Amino acid sequence: MDAILVRGGRPLNGQITIAGAKNAALALMPATLLSDEPLTLTNAPRLSDVRTMTTLLRSLGAEVQTLQDGKVLALSSHTLTSTRADYDIVRKMRASNLVLGPLLARAHRAVVSLPGGCAIGARPMDIHVSALEAMGAEIDLKDGYLHANAPGGLKGARVKLRFASVGATENTLMAATLARGTTLIENAAREPEIVDLADCLRAMGAQISGDGTSTIEIQGVARLHAASHRVVADRIELGTYMLAPAIAGGEVECIGGRIHLVEAFVERLDAAGVSVEETAKGLKVARKNGRPHAVDVVTAPYPGFPTDLQAQMMAMLCTAEGQSRLEERIFENRFMHAPELLRMGASLDVQGGVATVRGVDRLKGAPVMATDLRASVSLILAGLAAEGETRVNRVYHLDRGYEQVEAKLGAVGADIERVSDA
Ligand code: UD1
Repeated sequence: MDAILVRGGRPLNGQITIAGAKNAALALMPATLLSDEPLTLTNAPRLSDVRTMTTLLRSLGAEVQTLQDGKVLALSSHTLTSTRADYDIVRKMRASNLVLGPLLARAHRAVVSLPGGCAIGARPMDIHVSALEAMGAEIDLKDGYLHANAPGGLKGARVKLRFASVGATENTLMAATLARGTTLIENAAREPEIVDLADCLRAMGAQISGDGTSTIEIQGVARLHAASHRVVADRIELGTYMLAPAIAGGEVECIGGRIHLVEAFVERLDAAGVSVEETAKGLKVARKNGRPHAVDVVTAPYPGFPTDLQAQMMAMLCTAEGQSRLEERIFENRFMHAPELLRMGASLDVQGGVATVRGVDRLKGAPVMATDLRASVSLILAGLAAEGETRVNRVYHLDRGYEQVEAKLGAVGADIERVSDA
């Protein structure tokens, strides 16, 4: 397994190009199951999660071709050969559950493994299940699998989500495109990835309005057709690289970044003394003067501060002036980076869903362990500001969500390399 070595202390200058969004791609790819005509996705990120989704879709009979070095995905689900998402694939990646809605809509049945425990919390699927049941599906749990059937097809319904779950909104949205009648999703998630999915489904012939707000209305149609869609920029990768110059100094322009994708995050950066300027090509980020200041952060569904940027923000606050409070409200166990940051000389403590961080002048390099995707990248960010060498072990999590992190940070002047973890 590979590790990443970072030697800290160098300011960063230059440009980093932001890839297409992992979380958008993982919802867009299963949309192929809704139609017997081809779907082309451009600006796809080159990530192991995308390869996992490719494996899953192929196991259902879809054809998936990767073109242009993986940046274009040509998908086709002319004939489905299976409606079963196996535990072996689903346990690797929770987003595998996004085949449930499309399979039910197109094939009127699906057998999808429950994802099981995941490092950042329990992550059940009750919201997905209630929504699809409201649309007429019968769903039973047997042998760790959800067995879903909709004899005669799904029916449009008024669906109120008990929490604005991203995945449940996506599953319901996809399912509703082929349901008979009108579906209203209330308390829908409003993430940019939902809007991106709705844009793609509209290009395929779906009738959807209200995406980006809490109420989405879908008028079911008989079939969807071929389309081509460009994946939206990855706002989490964007926020991650925006934090790099905030932590290490220098000025970095994130190409493809737009403020509207990361507004709540930019507001916190501004309060911390980090300037963000929108340019013709992206977002330019630099410290206003010297060390950032402490700020308080509470994670919330979009448009709030994203939970997927909480670990990276904590890395920055470890070297900020003053005491910060970070409250995690989306996942119950998402501070696994905290003990690793302590090993690097951070001063912080965690109680329940709240972390208190007292900024120190300088972190110190150490061998650390990545325990989930965003935690691993937060340790790399911390390493950029640390004295000496930081070795981030077990980086396979990183490859799930960041393409070529060492090349992107290396190009703006970071001393970073990938080594084989013998
Ligand atoms: C998506 C993102 C993930 C992000 C998360 C929250 C993808 C592929 N992943 O995950 O990166 O961290 O949104 O922004 O897009 N919940 C239930 N029952 C359910 C569904 C969810 O209790 O049926 C709970 C979860 O345990 C969690 C919270 O709701 O505490 C948020 O989950 P959700 O919005 O569904 O996240 P995902 O779609 O899994």
